[in-house]
Amino acid sequence: MRVREAQATGSHSGLRAVVLIGFMGAGKSSVGRALGEQLAWSFEDLDERIERRERRKVPEIFRDSGEAAFRRAEHAALKELLGELRTGAERIVALGGGAFAQRENVRLIEAGGVWTVFLDASVEELWRRCRQQAEQQGTERPLLSSLESFRELYQARQPHYLKASLRQETGGKTVAEIAAEVVLALGLNRNLDRILDRSRGRRGERQ
Ligand code: S3P
Repeated sequence: MRVREAQATGSHSGLRAVVLIGFMGAGKSSVGRALGEQLAWSFEDLDERIERRERRKVPEIFRDSGEAAFRRAEHAALKELLGELRTGAERIVALGGGAFAQRENVRLIEAGGVWTVFLDASVEELWRRCRQQAEQQGTERPLLSSLESFRELYQARQPHYLKASLRQETGGKTVAEIAAEVVLALGLNRNLDRILDRSRGRRGERQ
């Protein structure tokens, strides 16, 4: 696990967000929520913003308008969100599995100077998690068909994912462990110290 130097230096000047990328089943939303809780940063799932803007669920957009229309909606939602980061509070953002494989999205994200974290696991593990979420929670993923096409899509996207500031292995780890490892790798534990100092200060005021 190694953080790219160029982005690491950027972290000290105006870091406003950590963007989680990776394939379907990587745990972007669950790790994102845990990171948000650990750092007291708000968490946002880009797919949820797309659904609010479009007033339709992601599978409906794919079914009724096709993948190209979904990608346009995804790009527009990402642009809006990154615009908000310039002035808003710090945030953890989870992208859908295809967002960072689109060149124009990568350009936008890199221009934003935010951390990008690639959550990764073996294709078999990612497939197993997606199947389990489909069976247990009814999670519908339009691009989930056979293991073979799942593997091909992963392999086509992996070179894009590897452009992230940090690659974080998730296999065999709990969500809390993964989030804690990301916090440490990005040096965000310094933020935890500040959060603790602030809340201790507030407690002191009350006493
Ligand atoms: C997609 C992944 C989905 C969602 C959409 C497209 C993809 O998000 O954005 O179905 O292209 O891999 P998750 O990665 O959260 O499943």
